[in-house]
Amino acid sequence: MEGPKVTRRSFGEGALAASAATAFAMPAIARGGSAAERVRLGIIGAGSRGNQLLDTFLPIEEVDLVAVADVDDHHAGKTAERVQKTKGHMPWTGRDYLPMLERKDLDGVIIATPDHWHALPAIQAVLAGKDVYVEKPVGHNVAEGQAMIKAARKTQRIMAVGTQQRSSSHFQKAVEIVRSGKLGKVFWIQTWNYENISPVGMGTYPDGEAPSHVDYDRWLGPAPSKAFNPNRFHLLFRWFFDYAGGMMSDWGVHLNDIVLWALDAKGPNSIYAAGGIRTTDDNRDTPDTLQVIYEFPGCTLTYSMRKGNGLKFNGHDYRILFCGTDGSLMLDRSGFEVIPDHVVLPYGIKLVHGKRDLRKIELKPESEKGVDGQPAHVANFLECMKTRARPTCDIEIAHRSTNTCHLGNIAYKLGRKLEWDVATETFKNDSEANALLSREPRKGFELPNLA
Ligand SMILES: NC(=O)c1ccc[n+]([C@@H]2O[C@H](COP(=O)([O-])OP(=O)(O)OC[C@H]3O[C@@H](n4cnc5c(N)ncnc54)[C@H](O)[C@@H]3O)[C@@H](O)[C@H]2O)c1
Repeated sequence: MEGPKVTRRSFGEGALAASAATAFAMPAIARGGSAAERVRLGIIGAGSRGNQLLDTFLPIEEVDLVAVADVDDHHAGKTAERVQKTKGHMPWTGRDYLPMLERKDLDGVIIATPDHWHALPAIQAVLAGKDVYVEKPVGHNVAEGQAMIKAARKTQRIMAVGTQQRSSSHFQKAVEIVRSGKLGKVFWIQTWNYENISPVGMGTYPDGEAPSHVDYDRWLGPAPSKAFNPNRFHLLFRWFFDYAGGMMSDWGVHLNDIVLWALDAKGPNSIYAAGGIRTTDDNRDTPDTLQVIYEFPGCTLTYSMRKGNGLKFNGHDYRILFCGTDGSLMLDRSGFEVIPDHVVLPYGIKLVHGKRDLRKIELKPESEKGVDGQPAHVANFLECMKTRARPTCDIEIAHRSTNTCHLGNIAYKLGRKLEWDVATETFKNDSEANALLSREPRKGFELPNLA
């Protein structure tokens, strides 16, 4: 069922923005009496990830799911039925999420749309006085992330991001170990994603008509207008720069997020990248082969990705490896291992300088099984809605992690080393690279003015 019509352009600039201004003063959840007990949420984007998130949200007794917005009627309908089965009531459904944001009986929204559709609804939601749980990566480009932080701060709304590893106890412990100095000087880090989908990949399909149960124009939203193609749509949009950032921002963001956390860093000082589309014959425009090298003070990070060969690295097809002078720590969702190192005296040094006593490393092996962070991540969001504390993965934290992916992709596109100024979030003396930090949205899908 569609609600009242609100034009995208008018939203956030008219009556709603004015009512939101008074709403900012008070947590949405505290406004409606009984809402102190119940958390009333809506979902924007009820596809694959949206439904995974509902696996965690719906079983929570205090959560009511009152609205489902999806440009695909089938996705909205199936999700609404699922809500009815588990919660016993049919939520409002619609293709356009704006009427949802006007509802008084809504405290927050879950946003699980494609990457190019994260910033606009997140900003409009906080302007309407709602709290937000938005999926990673934060936005389609650096400027979108900056606008999301600005909107969250201006409205004092919660904006939590779905980099759920931050809520996993084993990730927390692993980061503590890296930070403790137990590994010695951590100077070399690798994150990686390897698989073999060559040569067919997604396959090749002609452009055609979008299904009639989909508002394709709204799906495109701020992205450039292009003919419908099943590869550029549900789930597979991530392999096109118009909507996302390929494997770098799809998976790399989860991995680099942990690196920034462990290094307590806001971003790298420089980035260079090489790669291409070398092994896949489909119509993707993001690379299937990529090496991005980031320099941090005293430490180098490489994000390494290939889709034409699935040979595992250290027994894993994706992971994070921290190397220190005393040992290494390898980490992913399945758990972590600490691997002590040992110092050697190479033949040449021994011949020139003679035998010497070798430094003994005290580090002990250690390992821990992985814990899914999703339930704790969702619980933290709900808790922050009540306490108004900053969430475990606040928008600003996830913005910086997402930036590492945007920067990797920009370095890949330009094919040269880029110097990054962490404080100003701009490239140093590089107008061509700086031009890629934002893009002109399609007319009618501009971000609200937050000045
Ligand atoms: N945190 C994680 O572990 C994790 C895992 C998977 C995906 N994700 C993220 O979740 C997001 C969604 O990915 P997905 O795999 O679910 O994609 P998907 O294509 O399966 O789902 C996206 C849904 O959003 C809908 N949609 C698109 N534009 C919309 C709009 N303007 N308003 C309402 N609905 C709209 C689509 O119709 C679709 O149902 C991506 O950004 C992805 O990176 C995160």
